[in-house]
Amino acid sequence: MEKEKKVLYSGMQATGLLTIGNYIGALKNWVNLNEEYDCFFGVMDLHSLTVRQNPAEFRKAARRIYTQYVAAGLDPEKNCIYFQSHVPAHTQLGWVLDCFTYMGELNRMTQFKDKSAKHADNINAGLFTYPSLMAADILLYQADVVPIGADQKQHLEICRDIAERMNNIYGDIFTIPEGYFPKIGAKIMSLAEPTKKMSKSDENVNATIYLVDDKDTIIRKFKKAVTDSEAQVRYDVENKPGVSNLMEIYGIVTEKSMDAIEKEFEGKGYGDFKLAVGEAVADALEPMHKRYAEFEQDKSYIDKCIKDNAEKASYYANKTLRKVYKKLGLNEMIR
Ligand code: TYM
Repeated sequence: MEKEKKVLYSGMQATGLLTIGNYIGALKNWVNLNEEYDCFFGVMDLHSLTVRQNPAEFRKAARRIYTQYVAAGLDPEKNCIYFQSHVPAHTQLGWVLDCFTYMGELNRMTQFKDKSAKHADNINAGLFTYPSLMAADILLYQADVVPIGADQKQHLEICRDIAERMNNIYGDIFTIPEGYFPKIGAKIMSLAEPTKKMSKSDENVNATIYLVDDKDTIIRKFKKAVTDSEAQVRYDVENKPGVSNLMEIYGIVTEKSMDAIEKEFEGKGYGDFKLAVGEAVADALEPMHKRYAEFEQDKSYIDKCIKDNAEKASYYANKTLRKVYKKLGLNEMIR
């Protein structure tokens, strides 16, 4: 049967505090695209187990992220927003895909190399097979499009390779997903080291704007952002990474082009520019803060959404899982 709308799938790891990198690279686009597609958004808590978590903080962080998806403008009655661990089919298909993923492919993953270097005392098998679980997330829902930041591109490519490999052997099992990357903002950089990606796990809190930061904090962090000595607001990623990063952030939240921003700040110093960026970001996040506070008042609404959407996600995921098991020749359960 033809799908009425195309399917969109995406998710975020369930730990720490979301950053404006997560927002600009992913969440904002999810909100922009959600009317056009049938959407599934996971809070990827199983993926987070590849790094040791403090159970109490982890539980809270995952719930906060769920609520932030909703507060950002994703209606949980129209979009299927759920915890990955509530849908066992993810790990079930993950195992199957492990058996169709080559060690050599996994060895090439830059995220594996980075995380192994960062957590040298805990290079576990889950960290290595992370991409096949991520492929399972996407393929279970027969996703057509996956809006993500640039750092997830390699993972999407391996997902496509695995899906094509299995389709070639068993006939059409999976839809081959396309990535959706924002033209500007696919890789938001650290405010302290603008040649490095902004990351929620950065130890320097001034390097990162968190979605929970209040206006004063946001403005203070932007004031401290590393720029250069040229004192000219000009978009040149290679030679002016700090200024260009701030211009991208400003451009996204105000919907202004890089040219328009250059004109706006012609003859003005970085002080004015940084203040404008800080104010624009704080204004853009304010409605989300308000809605978040409202959802915190009504925990039962979010509870109900978590429950209903776990059932909905399971329905679609199990459909694909049954199809895969059958194609592979596993005996059907006798009921
Ligand atoms: P995660 O949790 O690291 O990041 C979530 C999303 O935010 C994007 N992102 C950024 N975009 C621009 N600039 C940045 N500085 C920045 N930092 C993060 C990421 O590209 C991502 O889109 N493996 C995934 C989570 C995942 C997933 C999935 C995503 C698990 N299964 C299935 C899509 C589909 C991850 O670690 O993202």
